[in-house]
Amino acid sequence: MSEPGLLVLGDNLEFLRAEPPGSADLVVTDPPFATGRLRAGPSGPAAPAAFPDRWASLEAYLDFLRPRLAAMRDLLQPRGSLVVHLDFRAAHLVRAELDRLFGRGRFVNEIIWHYTGGGRGKRAFARKHDNLLWYAKGPGWTFNIDSVREPYKPTSGYARGGIVSRAGKRYAPHPDGTPVDDVWDIPIVNPLSPERCGYPTQKPERLLERLIAALSNPGDRVVDPFCGSGTALVVAARLGRAWMGGDIFPAAIAATRRRLDAAGFAGAYTLREDAPPPRGGRCAPAGQSSSAQYCSTCPATTARLASQNSRERMSMPKRAASSAALPSPVPRSSAL
Ligand SMILES: C[S@@+](CC[C@H](N)C(=O)[O-])C[C@H]1O[C@@H](n2cnc3c(N)ncnc32)[C@H](O)[C@@H]1O
Repeated sequence: MSEPGLLVLGDNLEFLRAEPPGSADLVVTDPPFATGRLRAGPSGPAAPAAFPDRWASLEAYLDFLRPRLAAMRDLLQPRGSLVVHLDFRAAHLVRAELDRLFGRGRFVNEIIWHYTGGGRGKRAFARKHDNLLWYAKGPGWTFNIDSVREPYKPTSGYARGGIVSRAGKRYAPHPDGTPVDDVWDIPIVNPLSPERCGYPTQKPERLLERLIAALSNPGDRVVDPFCGSGTALVVAARLGRAWMGGDIFPAAIAATRRRLDAAGFAGAYTLREDAPPPRGGRCAPAGQSSSAQYCSTCPATTARLASQNSRERMSMPKRAASSAALPSPVPRSSAL
């Protein structure tokens, strides 16, 4: 039986490979999108967190992602699912990778997360959706459509009285509402919402609630290896799932811990610090490294992140939040 919660500070390639194969029921993850930017937080307790989302090329980005996606697939049990959250920049390329990795027949859905908000396109339609690619490990998978029904529209005649087919068969409205399809209208986290923690690219809990409720069962193990501020992990814990997740940035782990603690899960999980990637805080000239994202960031960015992360590290308790025994922390350099 896996532990109820495990939060890891480290490179997910290492910590995913260290987990027993087949030990996850659902991997739901939101990696960097290859925006070419330093993603800095808006406001809130996690600010000023930032992580670099720059690669020398899209090929370098895919080189980074490929072994990690393979490690995620290996972690899934035979009825498990993987959902990868991306946007227009790389969704098509990653889908081709996932087709190769899982087999095209294992593609289940592309969920379009549509959101509204400021910004009107001047030369093209405003980009207001992300793409969530869902693949199943095997020919059968968990799918609880009834747990994610939505209320019928107030104008729905069907909701009021159902319909009767020409053949006289009666269809009654479902008491829990209508099944959702693959286009989801869910607002982004409002800047004034108490949910907003200030971590860059924070995703709405409602989005993760729907995914986790539909694609896993209570007691299942949910994994997010690019956890950021821990949205998926907090939601998994709240929905009674075991969970495991991690991030390479101390600022992300600190934000996740704040959210888990605020949600009442302090002491209900283990925190582990893994060794940092062996890059010694140095940045290779852009283009010289094919896959390491940090080597495609400029030295100024790296120095800024190093100082921010060492500040975060100093404010992080050395011990696990839970009373469970922790492996002794491995000495780490301020690589980022
Ligand atoms: C898009 S953000 C995730 C945001 C998250 N879904 C949330 O709601 O807060 C991607 C995260 O991946 C992390 N990351 C990037 N490379 C990583 C690696 N090699 N191992 C672990 N985490 C990594 C970044 O630090 C960043 O926090």
